[in-house]
Amino acid sequence: MIGQGFDSPLVHLIDYNMEHIYPNIEGWFDFHTFYNSVLDRLPQDYIFVEVGVWKGKSLSYFVIESINKSKNGKIYAVDHWLGSEEHQKDSWAYDPLTQIEDGLYNEYCKNIVPIRDYIFDIKNSSEVASNTFENQSIDAVFIDASHDYDNVYRDISSWYPKVKFGGIISGHDYDWPGVNSAVNNFAKAHNMGIVSYDNVWELLY
Ligand SMILES: C[S@@+](CC[C@H](N)C(=O)[O-])C[C@H]1O[C@@H](n2cnc3c(N)ncnc32)[C@H](O)[C@@H]1O
Repeated sequence: MIGQGFDSPLVHLIDYNMEHIYPNIEGWFDFHTFYNSVLDRLPQDYIFVEVGVWKGKSLSYFVIESINKSKNGKIYAVDHWLGSEEHQKDSWAYDPLTQIEDGLYNEYCKNIVPIRDYIFDIKNSSEVASNTFENQSIDAVFIDASHDYDNVYRDISSWYPKVKFGGIISGHDYDWPGVNSAVNNFAKAHNMGIVSYDNVWELLY
């Protein structure tokens, strides 16, 4: 069982059938199949990092699926909770919570109350957060933060060394031009392949 303080068999039984909360959380989560496959491939005791959490929609799906599959995960939520560029300015994704101090973070915390004990927040930029991990210590990382070329290339470069050899390094929005070019160029520079479905990319190495 993930997290601390759940040693009663009754609690285990209840947790295995935990109802999903993600449908009530705002976000752009469309990679359920991918997250299911990540969970199926992870060892029983694993370390997972989601980079770019927003209001907790995709992360809450992952956490509750993990609970329901009886896996033991240490799950990290990495975000500065300031919003990406497209959330901060007048655009299709603008959210006024980005203009209020801790607006997004407070919304995230409110949303994930039922699974709070299963998540470790790192409220910082992706690059700084990556430096708090030992090299080759993470089983899987999923990058869904900024979408411009420079930031995505930097995110992959920062997190790749932190993932165990054979671990999963992946992310969202492969159809965004900046994401697509950054993933392709990183893979080419490191002699890696790429697999992509459901708008998710994963490096093959
Ligand atoms: C597209 S949203 C994440 C959506 C979430 N995965 C979901 O499906 O519900 C992107 C998030 O990345 C965060 N972000 C963007 N650039 C970042 C950076 N360099 N470091 C940390 N967080 C960042 C933003 O604050 C935002 O919350």
